[in-house]
Amino acid sequence: MTQRMYLTCALGAILLIGTGALLSSHAAAGPANRGFKPFPDASGEVQTLSVGGALNQQGPFFQAQGTNGRSCVTCHSNRTAWALAPWEVQQRYLQSAGTDPLFRPVDGATCPNDDFSTPGARLSAYRLVLSKGLIRIGLPVPANADFSITAVDTPCSCADTQNVSVYRRPLPATNLRFLTTVMWDGRESPAGNTLNDSLRSQAFDAIMGHEQAATAPSNAVLDSIVAFERSLYTAQVLDHAAGRLEAEGARGGPEPLMQQPFFIGINNLDAQGQPGTPDVFDLYRAWNHSNQPDRQSVARGEAIFNTRPITISGVAGLNDALGLPVILGTCSTCHNTPNVGDHSVPGPLNIGTAAASERTPDLPLFTVQCKDGSTVQTTDLGRALISGRCSDIGKFKGPILRALAARAPYFHNGSAASLNDVLAFYNRRFNLNLSQQETADLVAFLNTL
Ligand code: HEC
Ligand code: HEC
Repeated sequence: MTQRMYLTCALGAILLIGTGALLSSHAAAGPANRGFKPFPDASGEVQTLSVGGALNQQGPFFQAQGTNGRSCVTCHSNRTAWALAPWEVQQRYLQSAGTDPLFRPVDGATCPNDDFSTPGARLSAYRLVLSKGLIRIGLPVPANADFSITAVDTPCSCADTQNVSVYRRPLPATNLRFLTTVMWDGRESPAGNTLNDSLRSQAFDAIMGHEQAATAPSNAVLDSIVAFERSLYTAQVLDHAAGRLEAEGARGGPEPLMQQPFFIGINNLDAQGQPGTPDVFDLYRAWNHSNQPDRQSVARGEAIFNTRPITISGVAGLNDALGLPVILGTCSTCHNTPNVGDHSVPGPLNIGTAAASERTPDLPLFTVQCKDGSTVQTTDLGRALISGRCSDIGKFKGPILRALAARAPYFHNGSAASLNDVLAFYNRRFNLNLSQQETADLVAFLNTL
């Protein structure tokens, strides 16, 4: 195990050197004034623009606010779309011999009481952040819960059934204007909160928790952090196959994203319960008329996302909420915020990513006894750890789908290593039978977001 991990780390470093060369050849591209430089990623380049030109990279978002040396950028870095990529984690582990502030027992390790006494033990303790960029999230079972956890089968030493440890991917701290709920389980967005309230409370909790601050942050620090992250817009700007993403009338990249209208519920069910438009993405429609085959593929992928029928059944939060056991939908039924792709209302959904059948051996498996007599097994209780309701087990928000190429692996637990793996999941879960061509087109499209 130890040897394999070192090998992966070395590969990560080689990958970095390889892509570093690409960076310099395109570094001059993109708006000069309010843009950060573009960064190479899996399929091209990703870039962040900042509204109002708030390019100050010395502010509190970048400064340690607590006692363990971490700041927000420790887990939300510009070059990975303000999220955290395993290749970057591995590189930091190698370069710092495991001393980078990311590697702190509190939540970087699988459990604070892991063995850290030898280099091999430390490597093992940090294996989930190294392999999948997963951070431990500790949450208590709510006092009023209509369920109890009766067993935890876990390879990690945190096995408490009251103070539960789950392992999740950092969400991007960018494109925040489009959020309908903050965090995978919406825990920072109680009813009545404005987005600003939620983000302030999130920053406070991150400083007290991830950064292990001894004293509460000042209002000035919180305001500065929230203003900075709210100014950011991030998207893919260049695709190695299709070229620049605003070419030939296309509207990829962060500039059009800044202009994209949004309000909560923008494309939700209307008063009659009829769904909004499935035509959610139209960034690459102009490429239907391109002569360039790779651009045509992206345009086809966008159309597949909007129109390819999916028989949606058994999705708690959707089928039960609408009283429809079967919904003939599309990818855009759930990913319905125009040209952004998150769920346009806060309602969390259980699509099965935390189901026992999808469990990988590196994750815990919880056995949950519900008061109604049923038993559920899951790798992450999701929204249920906030609401205390059994019916919310396994529910997560429908996340924003921009800048995907910069931030694999996917889903709350990093269970899909690539976009192909994401589609393999949907094939399994909804019997999609996507053809090879449809899969290739969808991946080409998702990579341009
Ligand atoms: C140790 C890693 C780590 C650090 C440090 C960290 N975060 Fe996060 N961040 C995460 C993880 C993991 C999540 C998702 C957790 C969840 O949903 O349960 C997250 C989620 C978020 C989100 C939610 C985005 C969304 O789509 O809902 C925001 C905003 C955010 N972080 C901002 C910050 C800020 C601001 C700081 C510094 C004050 C910070 N983070 C520090 C790991 C980190
Ligand atoms: C029934 C609702 C639903 C449908 C249909 C659906 N999704 Fe999702 N999607 C979700 C939810 C909920 C998540 C978050 C799940 C998680 O992280 O556990 C998600 C996550 C994703 C992610 C990962 C994003 C990230 O940041 O990790 C991608 C990519 C994605 N979906 C693409 C698609 C595509 C492509 C389709 C059509 C083939 C599709 N989705 C259909 C609800 C849906």
